[in-house]
Amino acid sequence: MSSRRKTQLTFVAASMALLAIGAVAAELRGGLLYDKWWVINGSPEPTGEHPLYPPEGQKTGSTTFRCKECHGWDYKGADGAYGSGSHFTGIGGVFGTTLSAGELFDLIKNSPDTTANGHDFGNIGLSDVDILDLVDFLLIEIIDTDLHIGPNYNFIGDEAQGDWNFNHQGMCWTCHGADGTAINFGTPEDPVWVGTVASHNPWEFLHKVRFGQPGTGMPSWIAGGGSDQGAADIGLHAQNNLPGGVPGGLLVFKDGLEGGDLGAWSTSVP
Ligand code: HEC
Ligand code: HEC
Repeated sequence: MSSRRKTQLTFVAASMALLAIGAVAAELRGGLLYDKWWVINGSPEPTGEHPLYPPEGQKTGSTTFRCKECHGWDYKGADGAYGSGSHFTGIGGVFGTTLSAGELFDLIKNSPDTTANGHDFGNIGLSDVDILDLVDFLLIEIIDTDLHIGPNYNFIGDEAQGDWNFNHQGMCWTCHGADGTAINFGTPEDPVWVGTVASHNPWEFLHKVRFGQPGTGMPSWIAGGGSDQGAADIGLHAQNNLPGGVPGGLLVFKDGLEGGDLGAWSTSVP
């Protein structure tokens, strides 16, 4: 082989390696789309309400287009945390789905005219690549959150390992501070910190740590090589040791933890 050709090949290999580092794995991008797809794919924020959102549901507007709003942070829909409270829709989960990749693709993309329960996202703002990424997420990354979050809403894990993960492997402290209070997701009067989210919505915490926070620089713990158990360990550390955390499990929930939409403390699941 000529040395020129060799140089070209080395260049191609190097750029592919760089691409691999820069690109988010499909199933992890799917997890971000599940959270809030329009922040990830740049589509306009949807208006009105998703056609499958039930009239008796309490939410309105773009949030009714988020996968998580109908199927939950625990992926169990009405069989899980969204079985009551302000997010109740009565819609089932995506955990344990028996649909094939092709059936999942069609269900997400097509309108109900052509596919039973068709979500019509092909006409609402998702490209085929987005939908394929969501299918990968559904088939690869959906977990049984009961393995990591116990009946008292406490994370099941090792808090010393979680402390280490927070301060070393995950480098969470670089943005959130060693005690998780450097970024306040709430208001000065009513702060919401890492510890608060871990205790007041452990399922949301687990999802956001595993996949990252859409539209921010917060990286995915899984993309960095972390395990699901490692994320739960961080959750336990945050519940037990960080300000806003509630050791020993959840006492009250807070609705609308995400910035700008803070509800009241209550006993119903946010
Ligand atoms: C407005 C509510 C709503 C939204 C938003 C929504 N879904 Fe659904 N989804 C439904 C309904 C209704 C069904 C039918 C089954 C049921 O009622 O449980 C369903 C069923 C499913 C199923 C089949 C589960 C099974 O039974 O095996 C999957 C998978 C699914 N949705 C994925 C998604 C994904 C991915 C998104 C986001 C891109 C999404 N859904 C957004 C309402 C919604
Ligand atoms: C590069 C900076 C960065 C790193 C590293 C980082 N985060 Fe974040 N994180 C953010 C930003 C920015 C937000 C969004 C703040 C907002 O919405 O106001 C956020 C949001 C969060 C939220 C709140 C999500 C919600 O419910 O709205 C939690 C919980 C969280 N981070 C935990 C972690 C944990 C645990 C780690 C380590 C595994 C971590 N973060 C690493 C920057 C970071």
